[in-house]
Amino acid sequence: MSHLHVRVTQLQAQGNANLSVRLEAVCGQALPAFSAGSHVDVFLPSGLIRQYSIASAPSSLDHYELCVKKEAASRGGSRFMHEGLALNAELEISRPRNLFAIQPAAHHVLVAAGIGITPLLSMAAELHETGQSFALHYYTRTRAEAAYAGRLKSSYPQRCVRLHHSDEGKSPRHHIPEDLQRPETNSRVYLCGPNAFMSSMTERAIAFGWSQNQIHQEAFSVDVNTATNPEDSFEVQLHSSGQVVRVPADQSIAQALLAASIEVPLSCEQGFCGACLTPVLQGTPCHRDSVLSDGEKLLNNQMTLCCSRSLSSRLVLDL
Ligand code: FES
Repeated sequence: MSHLHVRVTQLQAQGNANLSVRLEAVCGQALPAFSAGSHVDVFLPSGLIRQYSIASAPSSLDHYELCVKKEAASRGGSRFMHEGLALNAELEISRPRNLFAIQPAAHHVLVAAGIGITPLLSMAAELHETGQSFALHYYTRTRAEAAYAGRLKSSYPQRCVRLHHSDEGKSPRHHIPEDLQRPETNSRVYLCGPNAFMSSMTERAIAFGWSQNQIHQEAFSVDVNTATNPEDSFEVQLHSSGQVVRVPADQSIAQALLAASIEVPLSCEQGFCGACLTPVLQGTPCHRDSVLSDGEKLLNNQMTLCCSRSLSSRLVLDL
């Protein structure tokens, strides 16, 4: 599957700490269709890859809109997008993938915190355009932090959208949307935001009587079986024995090694615990974990085997 070559055609502040980035195909053609809740990989000039949800409506394929929060401690994606990206800059992105699709239901309750609004914005647009019933709740610390506040107010009926601000007494730690206090069998809930926010909302929604399978969360974990170039397989070589194992596009490195009877220490298998972190002696990993810092990823001297892949045809691992 080929990458998409896009140009930045608009940069706009969204709230006081986010930047929306409008991307259009360099060739001027429509971009590939996607469903609400999708994200794309953005291939940064530094070699880093970052995933961003698409905030724009699936019905507008003349552009994709991403929104990036300014992270004070960022040395990678957020910093580049805020400080290094200029109007007309060209970027490579992946085709959209969806791990957070809208499921059939009579009513949809969307609950976002902070930058978690991005996939839910696209969902609200799709639900509204297709005449489906929804309510969107959006938590930020302050009113000034809210992204797309104007668009949310002008695009949807007031009863569909509620903004809640911690400094006005509506912190998601203590406040729960009324819609979540009234479980409905034919409704679905979609949560997106920091992990602590999602777990706390889920826990309280379940206590009010929602069932776990009615609650959907944006998967911040990586898509472990999908390569950056999904058509690409590559090889890993074990330094100790010289054995070479092919990693097909639909398997992780860990899965391919285990299939070859090579032991791999695994725990979360989703790129956040570090159990499978392994030194890399040759080749360039395609990092897809949240264990290593941006700086550590740039060194390319270690990688997680459960989810990261390869940008070179062979990796030599210190195994
Ligand atoms: S098993 Fe947890 S990071 Fe790989």
